[in-house]
Amino acid sequence: MLSQSTIDIVKSTAPILDEQGEKLTRHFYERMFKHNPEVAPYFNPAHQQVGGTQQRALAAAICAYAANIDNLEVLGEAVELIAQKHASLQIKPDHYPVVGENLLASIQEVLGGAATPDIVEAWGEAYGFLADILIAREQEIYRSSAEKTGGWEGFRRFVVSRKVIESDLITSFYLEPEDKGALPEFLPGQYVTVRVPAADGTSTMRNYSLSDTPGKDYLRISVKRETGADQVPDGYVSNRLHDRTEEGAAIEVGPPCGEFFLDVTEQHQRPLVLLAAGIGITPILSILQTAVQAMPERPIVFVHACLNPRVQAFKSVVDALAEQHPQLTVRYRYDELSDGELLSDANASEGLADAEFIESLLPGKDADYYFCGPRPFMVNIYRDLLQWGIPASQVHFEFFGPREELAKAAE
Ligand SMILES: Cc1cc2nc3c(=O)[nH]c(=O)nc-3n(C[C@H](O)[C@H](O)[C@H](O)COP(=O)(O)OP(=O)(O)OC[C@H]3O[C@@H](n4cnc5c(N)ncnc54)[C@H](O)[C@@H]3O)c2cc1C
Ligand code: HEM
Repeated sequence: MLSQSTIDIVKSTAPILDEQGEKLTRHFYERMFKHNPEVAPYFNPAHQQVGGTQQRALAAAICAYAANIDNLEVLGEAVELIAQKHASLQIKPDHYPVVGENLLASIQEVLGGAATPDIVEAWGEAYGFLADILIAREQEIYRSSAEKTGGWEGFRRFVVSRKVIESDLITSFYLEPEDKGALPEFLPGQYVTVRVPAADGTSTMRNYSLSDTPGKDYLRISVKRETGADQVPDGYVSNRLHDRTEEGAAIEVGPPCGEFFLDVTEQHQRPLVLLAAGIGITPILSILQTAVQAMPERPIVFVHACLNPRVQAFKSVVDALAEQHPQLTVRYRYDELSDGELLSDANASEGLADAEFIESLLPGKDADYYFCGPRPFMVNIYRDLLQWGIPASQVHFEFFGPREELAKAAE
């Protein structure tokens, strides 16, 4: 356990960290990648470039920890999210001292004289305390992934057995184990990690949600092509998958992870509201397909917001579900329709998938909400649900980037 004096010091330095947090974390990353280049491939280089999202994530985690060091329950959910993310990227106990040493050295280098030996020692203890919690949870995740029937630890080679174009931007990859072995059950909503060679000869990893239901003889990911502009390069992995990964190619895949999933053992009567925008359809489709089978009595509302029908994936799959399952209400919302695209589909309309629209589909606001999509969509929905007073236990979301970015924007 941490001593009271450590707790006091860490809590009293929270405001300093809040002020210096982002600078500190930026310094920390530069330092760590210089002294320990072996950990660089674990981090997405684009996250280091685009507005420093990971810098903010770690800075925020440190500040939250400082503010709640004597109340770890508040951090419980964050610990699960971080542990799942770390496990998906194969972060191991040996990595923690590397991060810890560079973090403490950075505190000294950035805060200068303000970082007294007492403060540095207290942070060293506090870091070790949180590291132990994360390491323990991560070891459990690794163990349970490996022990499942069809499960594995580390990366396993998969062959692309089918590549299917779903829309102008999105292509699905059906992945079957090269060793022809079994596949594990996963929870609808979870993601895997794909590891591919990087341009500099190392490797790089990205998470992709599983877009089909558990229980198939393949895992399916559906990937949106990320296109750059002007000085911004194209997304590395998505374009590599689209352009250079054909049927028959082998890729490395980590076991399913993630704390965003539908728990089918929870049988509520209140409606289930599934909201997707753009590529955010991937985990939501897996949840939708599972829910219509597992919860036949429960009203389900599904909304997919897209730029236009040309970039929309899986519409025919969802249309078929709507025909088969009377408890399912489906709506499609489009940002922009060109003249030739005026819709004959009664479920489709032009406009946003915002609070007003969602409310119009529900008998009341009391529902379980699952949502995933690009940042502006997520921020709006998240803020609206908070304003509606929906309890946190009924609000579930996946964000294709660091979670803290979303919480900050919603504030
Ligand atoms: C839990 C989770 C689930 C996900 N599920 C899916 C899914 O189902 N389908 C899916 O398509 N994606 C999914 N993603 C996103 C996915 O992991 C990748 O982030 C996405 O494919 C982009 O990766 P990339 O390598 O193509 O782009 P990156 O190379 O990582 O670049 C990301 C963005 O930054 C821009 N960029 C790159 N380099 C720079 C630079 N130097 N300066 C400025 N900008 C730059 C790129 O143009 C691109 O828009 C998920 C993410 C998470 C966290
Ligand atoms: C106590 C220690 C640590 C804390 C509090 C912490 C916290 C976090 C947080 C908050 C995130 C973002 C999660 C999200 O919202 O998606 C994250 C991601 C990540 N962490 Fe940690 N972490 C710790 C230790 C480590 C260690 C030891 C490593 C190993 C090198 C590591 C590697 C990563 C990587 C690679 C990511 C994803 C980054 C990306 O997307 O580029 N972390 N961590």
